[in-house]
Amino acid sequence: MSTEPFKNVYLLPQTNQLLGLYTIIRDKNTTRPDFIFYSDRIIRLLVEEGLNHLPVTPKTVATHTGEDFTGVSFVGRICGVSIVRAGESMEQGLRDCCRSVRIGKILIQRDEETALPKLFYEKLPEDISDRYVFLLDPMLATGGSAIMATDVLIKRGVKPERIYFLNLICSKEGIDRYHAAHPDVKIVTGVLDKGLNEQKYLVPGLGDFGDRYYCI
Ligand code: PRP
Ligand code: URA
Ligand code: MG
Repeated sequence: MSTEPFKNVYLLPQTNQLLGLYTIIRDKNTTRPDFIFYSDRIIRLLVEEGLNHLPVTPKTVATHTGEDFTGVSFVGRICGVSIVRAGESMEQGLRDCCRSVRIGKILIQRDEETALPKLFYEKLPEDISDRYVFLLDPMLATGGSAIMATDVLIKRGVKPERIYFLNLICSKEGIDRYHAAHPDVKIVTGVLDKGLNEQKYLVPGLGDFGDRYYCI
């Protein structure tokens, strides 16, 4: 569903199942194996929701009963782009749904003191400008990293309306800032948190996603 009053923001249905998954990954006492397992479940839901918004065209197939069935098939091709490091956690969920999908990488790190993003590296599929792009990063806090990554994609010729930014937790401040820069990108998110703390971490949030998924 598209959330009011945000245009181009698609929030996963806020079911008890989803709430249960977030309760586990937000819990500071959750172990790393559980954090990975339950984050992966949310990531899968985000990928499936992103796929729901791709354009389709009618398609008729012959069934084994001798009757035809008219459904749809996807138009166009997609690729993933992860914002390294935390965004790489979302690659497998995309691969599980889209076999042998191409995946590019953009390495952006937030400065720990200033929370400002810095771009270190990009490696993207050659034909990315012809594709729909699933931009992957679990956290949308100030929006700085996502804006910088999207600038890279647009410089490479990707049309903003073909970008779907998938994230697990976002803030209103992050959405507003991101959409002020890139209004036509669709944001697919699992939950909207109440805000940011002094260190520019999402609250209640879950801490540093990359550290919890890969390190601690
Ligand atoms: C985190 C997160 C986003 C960014 C979000 O990455 O994965 O990329 O911060 O914050 P922002 O919206 O304020 O820019 P971080 O720089 O901590 O690196 P990591 O992926 O190595 O953890
Ligand atoms: N990056 C994270 O991992 N968590 C936050 O809350 C903000 C940025
Ligand atoms: Mg990052």
